[in-house]
Amino acid sequence: MFRVLLTDHITREAVDVFDAYDSIEAVAVGTLTAEELVSLLGDFDAIIVRSPTKLTRAIIESCTRVKYIGRAGVGVDNIDLSAADEHGITVMNAPGGNTISTAEHTVGMILGVTRRIAEADRMVRQNRWDRKTLRGVELHGKTLGVVGLGRVGREVARRMHAFSTEVIAVDPVVTAETAEDYGARLVGLDELLQTSHVITAHVPLTAETKGMIGDSEIARMRDGVFLVNCARGGVYDEEAVVRGLESGKIAGVAIDVYVDEPPGAHPLFSHDRSVFTPHIGAATAEAQIGVGVEIAQKIAKALITGEVRDVVGGAT
Ligand code: MLT
Repeated sequence: MFRVLLTDHITREAVDVFDAYDSIEAVAVGTLTAEELVSLLGDFDAIIVRSPTKLTRAIIESCTRVKYIGRAGVGVDNIDLSAADEHGITVMNAPGGNTISTAEHTVGMILGVTRRIAEADRMVRQNRWDRKTLRGVELHGKTLGVVGLGRVGREVARRMHAFSTEVIAVDPVVTAETAEDYGARLVGLDELLQTSHVITAHVPLTAETKGMIGDSEIARMRDGVFLVNCARGGVYDEEAVVRGLESGKIAGVAIDVYVDEPPGAHPLFSHDRSVFTPHIGAATAEAQIGVGVEIAQKIAKALITGEVRDVVGGAT
């Protein structure tokens, strides 16, 4: 009998995938502490996590029986891939299921920050009616810079055409033709920084992308730029962003993801003309079912046939 541990309140539909197999037992739990994981994992062949569970080297080293780690979502920065590799554990993700939800949230955040919707909401709730202090900017005729034209970046680009916004993008692996298919014009980073009114990042957090937008990049941006991040905390250097907000170079930010989650009392939050959400880009019913079922099917197939798909690290 194969045993699979599903953590982080993964959707019921993912458990149903395993229940269809007589040879797999699925155990669904919430988010466990490191100690709880270490004490449990010796009895499991696979574990599925969302982002709250950090599979550190110490936890992975305790996985004497685990052969597969499944990530119900895209980012694998919460999993120590080299430890998984050293222990012969294959790591797979579910890249398709939450693309649309994250793209839609990004569009919402772009509108939220340019039209100051969170601020306006607070004002009305506080029984204030200071409309003249809430002047926003239109997206019509403006330029959106997309950093990373992968699955989510493309869907954001496609949707932003509805606002008559010009979309430019940087991506080292996408061709100009592919970019055009999504209505984006491929440019160099300098042009994107200098000409975009709104910049949105859609790249994973890697050694190359960590802090890729810092003080020197912000200095090259338009005065009054808006920055959006629904990808991964750390792609924008958070301290540099705070400095940009303080100097007025950045008009506002719309942030869903943080270097530390939860971020605590971060200096970003003293900037009212911004909107912050708690990593909810993929928090829709559709996306959670999508990523849960997608990764459950891959793990079930791997356990039964040894066939793996969307391997993102560890033993391949
Ligand atoms: C992802 O990487 O799939 C999203 O950021 C959602 C999540 O982390 O749960």
